[in-house]
Formats: sequence, structure tokens, C-alpha cells
Amino acid sequence: MKPLIVANWKMNPSSLAEARKLFNEIRKTNAVICPPFVYISAFKYIQLGAQDCCWKEEGAYTGAISPQMLKGLGVKYVIIGHSERRIHFKETDGMINKKLKAALNSVLIPILCIGEKKDENPETVISRQLKEDLDGIAEKDLKKIIVAYEPVWAIGTGDFCEKDEAKKARNFIRKKIGNKVLYGGSVNSKIAKDYIDVGYDGLLVGGASLNAEEFIKIVKNAQT
Ligand code: 13P
Repeated sequence: MKPLIVANWKMNPSSLAEARKLFNEIRKTNAVICPPFVYISAFKYIQLGAQDCCWKEEGAYTGAISPQMLKGLGVKYVIIGHSERRIHFKETDGMINKKLKAALNSVLIPILCIGEKKDENPETVISRQLKEDLDGIAEKDLKKIIVAYEPVWAIGTGDFCEKDEAKKARNFIRKKIGNKVLYGGSVNSKIAKDYIDVGYDGLLVGGASLNAEEFIKIVKNAQT
């Protein structure tokens, strides 16, 4: 099975024209591409993802986007619980748990992000987040969730997680939940393969997914 590579564009690029250009350059990789909500309807693509969703299907939730709406636009995957949502938008594990259930209800494949901050113990944080985020999700649905281990200190810093440490976290997650596990945090084309070699099923790429040439290299290196 080829590693699953996911591009999380975050709040980039700043115009639809640039988004179209980037999309057309990287779509041939077959990677999952998660553009900002406002660009999604401009793209027809089998591997489309979103960066978040609401826990409700519709209603008075100003500014929110529902899993149903995403499904209707051809979206297949949705990132849930990214640390930037947890930190900047004060998302709690309780909210993340509801979002996961709503996404599964709408037949989207959730990519659940977990990971520790600088001075936290990885295993303590991973255990707590998995327990609270997955609370009450039925076994048959649980299997559909992809977990992304993204140590917060490694995101956008260039300070990527060494492969031995990453391997430890991956094995710990796998013991708790047998699902696919991706690695994310300062991934570039030089280190992409290291994570696959230590057992990760794929990568969640932020900054480097905005550079078509570098992203194509990441996919190629990870998948060979
Ligand atoms: P960077 O690759 O920019 O470190 O971001 C990782 C990430 O947050 C992907 O979701």
C-alpha cells in the first residue's frame, strides 16, 4: 500500500488564482489536498480534503461549515483537531469528539491530529487526546479514522521530530488504536522517507505543500 500523503495548505495561498496554479501543479501526485474552504468548490478531484468541519449538519452556527456541505462538494477527507484549531480557536477535546462523530456520520474520512507541546510528555498527551477525542465512537466507525501524530513543537518550526522519537510515538499510538498513522511537523523531501521507514502510513505536510516542486519530491521520495 502506497503511503498516504496529505497537503494541508492552512490559510494559503491568498488568492484563488494562486490556489488554482498550485492545485494544477500538484494534483498529478494523487496526494490528498486540503485547501481553505472557500477554494474547495473550484476543484474537482477525487482526493479532496477539508481542514475542519462543524459538529452540526445545519443551523445557527455563524461562520461554520458542516460535514454535509463538504460531502456535497466532493470532499472525501477532513482534518479534525489540528493543533492550530486547538490553540488559536480554543477547540476542546469535547468539540473534537463531536466533530469526529459528525464527520463519520456524513461518510467523510477524518484525519485526527494529536501531539504534545514542547514541555509535555508525548505518551501522556497522546493517551489523553485519544481517550477524549474517540470517546463513544462505535468500533465500526473507529476503524475509519486516520490518526496524524503532529508534535506541536515540530509544526512550522523546521525542528522536525527525530525518527527514533517518531517511531516510539507511532508504536505507542498503534498499540492503543490499530489505525493508519501519519506523521506531520516540518516534513521536507530530505526526511520524508525516514518516517515511512519507521512504520508511518503517510505524511501530513504543511508549509512544504505550498511549494509544488518540493511537494512533488516529498510524494516521490515517500512512495519509493
Ligand atoms: P508544517 O509542515 O508546516 O510543519 O505543518 C505541519 C502541519 O501542521 C500539517 O498539518
